[in-house]
Amino acid sequence: MINVTDIAYGRLSAPDLDLMEAFLTDFGMVRAERTKTALFMRGTDAEHHLHVTELGDPAFIGIAFHAASEEDLHTLAEAEGATPVEDLDEPGGGKRVRLTDPDGRQVEVIWGQEMLEPLPVRDVVINTGKERLNRAGDLQRIPSRPAHVKRSAHAVVTTAQVKASNDWYQAHLGLKTTDEIWMETEDNIFAVFNHIDAPTGSYVDHHVFLNVQAEKAGFNHLSFEVADFDDVQIGHFYLKEKGKYRHAWGIGRHTLGSQIFDYWRDPWGRIHEHWTDSDMVNNDHPAGFHSPEAGLANQWGPEFPMEFLDDPEKHAIA
Ligand SMILES: [Fe+2]
Repeated sequence: MINVTDIAYGRLSAPDLDLMEAFLTDFGMVRAERTKTALFMRGTDAEHHLHVTELGDPAFIGIAFHAASEEDLHTLAEAEGATPVEDLDEPGGGKRVRLTDPDGRQVEVIWGQEMLEPLPVRDVVINTGKERLNRAGDLQRIPSRPAHVKRSAHAVVTTAQVKASNDWYQAHLGLKTTDEIWMETEDNIFAVFNHIDAPTGSYVDHHVFLNVQAEKAGFNHLSFEVADFDDVQIGHFYLKEKGKYRHAWGIGRHTLGSQIFDYWRDPWGRIHEHWTDSDMVNNDHPAGFHSPEAGLANQWGPEFPMEFLDDPEKHAIA
């Protein structure tokens, strides 16, 4: 129907915004704005915010994507079950259309959100085997600190109807299949990785949305790109040293997407990911079809832990 240009933010709810803000700050985000009933956190890029938490019982409300134009919002508003184009009455402003996916999740498509000054991030210069003098004369000294969350990268959900759900996302948002994983038999699709439609000449992240077959619909994780490899490591040890957060998986390098990743749970057990160095693809990328052994294996790092697919509340500490 339209082609969205990127993921914008995930929208969660939590009963304690102080606790959520403390976690997200330690995770490497910066407060953009906070009202009595909601928290808006940003990264170092210009987007006004890339994470929304509404005050309420812990829940995953939905995902927001950026539209290419206001006109696209009007096109999308014609879809079955869509709201009219409405003013986005919260910090950052803009306009949006709200849809409901086949599992009842809210999908927002937004346009015209306010942009902020980007936040400063160090230049990353690394000596490699072939380029040993990239950083000649400069010493590498990085203090202990949270990672620098740069931008919103992808969302992962579970569904009991992966084909219907994924067809819906592709039809409404213009997403394309990057890779599929089957389970037990090749006609039994377990997971579908989707990328943004890449305008001619451009490349996009390996996936912006991953849909996973499960017994029931749920939320799996929100993912954020960080500045560089040191940021993944420093962010990991910073959260670990806090001594109060649950680690979920990592550090490793995925096979599908190739990201160097690290996963942490917020106080209500919801998984948030740091990554760097994704594969970038365009619309010529041939959709891959993989066995679970190949698709879920790491290039390096710890094996996939089955509790990664648990309901978040099993791992809540709040
Ligand atoms: Fe991820």
